[in-house]
Amino acid sequence: MTGDHRHPIFARLYPRLDAAAARAGGAAHRAELLAGARGRALEVGAGHGANFAHYPGGVTEVVAIEPEPTLRARAVAAAAGAPVPVAVRAGLAEDLDLPDASFDVAVASLVLCSVRDPVRVLAELRRVLRPGGELRFYEHVRSRSPRQAIFQKYTDVLWPYVAAGCHVSRPTGDLIERSGFTVRSERRFDFPASRVPNPSAPHIIGVAVRD
Ligand SMILES: C[S@@+](CC[C@H](N)C(=O)[O-])C[C@H]1O[C@@H](n2cnc3c(N)ncnc32)[C@H](O)[C@@H]1O
Repeated sequence: MTGDHRHPIFARLYPRLDAAAARAGGAAHRAELLAGARGRALEVGAGHGANFAHYPGGVTEVVAIEPEPTLRARAVAAAAGAPVPVAVRAGLAEDLDLPDASFDVAVASLVLCSVRDPVRVLAELRRVLRPGGELRFYEHVRSRSPRQAIFQKYTDVLWPYVAAGCHVSRPTGDLIERSGFTVRSERRFDFPASRVPNPSAPHIIGVAVRD
């Protein structure tokens, strides 16, 4: 799979937006995402490496894939200060140049909204995880409220053009369940919590186990 994954404006803006989100609760979500993770971890679409500081000591190594060059350079800098060893590589989550069953943990954090083919990415994550390995996910998703889901559907006509391919109406939790994983824990919440309609507010966070 080929394609231009340069998004220079998004790459400059995203770390600033994420810093604001971190202060509003996003940092706690990232810590929740990774709490108790153990062994060898793969993170796809790692962005500027916002998760790296949250990997617990039980993680022996992180392989972090990021296709966007500006974000990848930021991730390399973040890796240098991470509490566990992190190797940052170029690549696409749809085509992982990694052996079968070679990871204990896979991490999908605000990325299944942005990849071209989330079903193919989930198949790749399943392939590289060992049986019983964990998929740790933190994603914004299609709302369970029919009214909000329709709002998201119409927003999604334009949203990917201004947000580097991000979609707000993907039923990512359902896709995970249909991709050979058993969801062990899942929490749904709106983030940021606000009365102003926000198509990317509905989130899920949890752990699914590779069948
Ligand atoms: C919204 S950012 C999230 C970054 C990071 N995961 C986080 O939690 O902050 C989406 C990321 O997915 C990356 N991405 C987009 N398409 C991808 C693909 N096909 N494979 C891997 N990463 C991809 C983007 O370059 C970007 O870094």
